Amino acid sequence: MTILLTSGLLACLAIVYTSYATSTAAPPKLPPQSVLTDFKSFAVLGANGSFRDGLTPFNPTNTTAPSFQIFNDDFLTILGNNPSIRVIAENDTFAFAHEAPIWMPDTDEVFFASNDGGALGMSDLNHNNQYSFISLKAAENLGKGQLVNFTKLPLDSSIQMTNGGTPFRNQLLLVNSGRGPLPPNIALVNPKPPFNSTIILDNFIGRQFNSLNDVKIHPQSKAIFFTDTIYGFLNNFRPPPELPIQVYRLDPDTGDLRVVADQFNKCNGIAFSPDGNTAFVTDTGVSGGFMGFNQTLPATIYAYDVDPVTQMFKNRRVFAYTDNGVPDGIELDSKGNVYSGCGDGIQVWNPSGQLIGKFFLNTTSANLAFAGQGRLVIMAETKIFLANIAATGNNLLF
Ligand SMILES: *[C@@H]1O[C@H](CO)[C@@H](O)[C@H](O)[C@H]1NC(C)=O
Ligand SMILES: *[C@@H]1O[C@H](CO)[C@@H](O)[C@H](O)[C@H]1NC(C)=O
Ligand SMILES: *[C@@H]1O[C@H](CO)[C@@H](O)[C@H](O)[C@H]1NC(C)=O
Ligand SMILES: *[C@@H]1O[C@H](CO)[C@@H](O)[C@H](O)[C@H]1NC(C)=O
Ligand SMILES: *[C@@H]1O[C@H](CO)[C@@H](O)[C@H](O)[C@H]1NC(C)=O
Ligand SMILES: *[C@@H]1O[C@H](CO)[C@@H](O)[C@H](O)[C@H]1NC(C)=O
Ligand SMILES: *[C@@H]1O[C@H](CO)[C@@H](O)[C@H](O)[C@H]1NC(C)=O
Repeated sequence: MTILLTSGLLACLAIVYTSYATSTAAPPKLPPQSVLTDFKSFAVLGANGSFRDGLTPFNPTNTTAPSFQIFNDDFLTILGNNPSIRVIAENDTFAFAHEAPIWMPDTDEVFFASNDGGALGMSDLNHNNQYSFISLKAAENLGKGQLVNFTKLPLDSSIQMTNGGTPFRNQLLLVNSGRGPLPPNIALVNPKPPFNSTIILDNFIGRQFNSLNDVKIHPQSKAIFFTDTIYGFLNNFRPPPELPIQVYRLDPDTGDLRVVADQFNKCNGIAFSPDGNTAFVTDTGVSGGFMGFNQTLPATIYAYDVDPVTQMFKNRRVFAYTDNGVPDGIELDSKGNVYSGCGDGIQVWNPSGQLIGKFFLNTTSANLAFAGQGRLVIMAETKIFLANIAATGNNLLF
């Protein structure tokens, strides 16, 4: 995707610390690498304004990426007093860090999948994508500017085009999109050598899924919730879809499998509030693979009530519409703030739906994972970023 920065008018609109000091409110102490931006300062751009489209990152200052864009004091609480964000792994020619990030606490390793079927992914109808890991411990001990290497997992060939993942019973739970006639499936993978795996589901009552995309465990019921969408077809590695685009719930103990939500353009990421009463599902309708981008389609996070008896998703409403790219992978922190990987980095909303800040990367992030107290690991295709902040994730180790 070509990214053009709007300059000129928009560049004048940010309120930096010095001008904030002229307001009556006590000036907040801004952390390093951050810029404070007032929504009202760009509420009216005028007849000759520098308007942008949904593919152009919003960067109202010359702050270089990565940086923190702060729209509301709530984001300062998330960042804490001394946040930082930096690249810890990189490969300019290989989108090795796309989706399915999982942190394993005992080894302090982060696992992740390369791009499946898209740009720089090195995977297509004839080639599987790659699932890899890095040592976060090693990354933290590196000197400034140094990077860690990533290591490929020798996964069984039944696992094709991994796109989603979450920790489950001290193992990796991977959802895989399938490739050609090879079925999409859900696999449990041993996070330690020999990385052996067990497929736990590869069909809906005998019918192949379209291309499974993402997964989370419900915090109370421990059921597995996953999304099935059509990116395998739109990225030319799966046949035309033969099921609706919908969200499923699998009881891993009884095998009970049911649809809990439909009526999406393209459902994608999924997450739950810490109390399990609210589900969030992203719809990346805007992004259409070989169909290109269509900016009239959803780039939207929907919220639902989770029915206490059936766990069906009900009372759908818009939680947020994103201003750049699509909201892809989604995570909540322990306070219920919502983080999603978007076209310009990680965007963050408070529980009431206000956009409070961004981990501004100036490039697409498809997913993120909390990695213990105060650590956020961000997938950015050809790079992995580590942010050290105050917030802690809601990705309990079920
Ligand atoms: C907008 O630009 C046009 C053409 O340069 C100019 O005539 C007009 O005065 C400008 N309008 C404003 C409000 O600046
Ligand atoms: C950004 O950089 C441009 C070009 O160097 C400059 O004209 C502009 O004033 C800068 N904007 C801000 C907000 O610093
Ligand atoms: C954002 O990316 C564009 C295109 O890659 C680049 O020209 C620009 O300098 C970047 N801006 C920042 C703030 O990093
Ligand atoms: C990037 O990844 C490609 C594909 O795995 C590999 O051939 C290349 O050596 C890597 N580059 C670096 C700098 O590690
Ligand atoms: C990464 O791999 C390169 C090439 O094999 C090696 O020179 C470098 O020391 C490795 N870096 C780390 C941090 O292990
Ligand atoms: C891996 O193999 C071990 C030893 O046979 C077994 O206990 C474990 O359940 C296997 N893990 C998976 C995910 O298949
Ligand atoms: C974009 O999507 C809308 C809504 O589905 C559709 O009406 C329109 O034809 C699409 N535009 C393009 C260029 O595909």
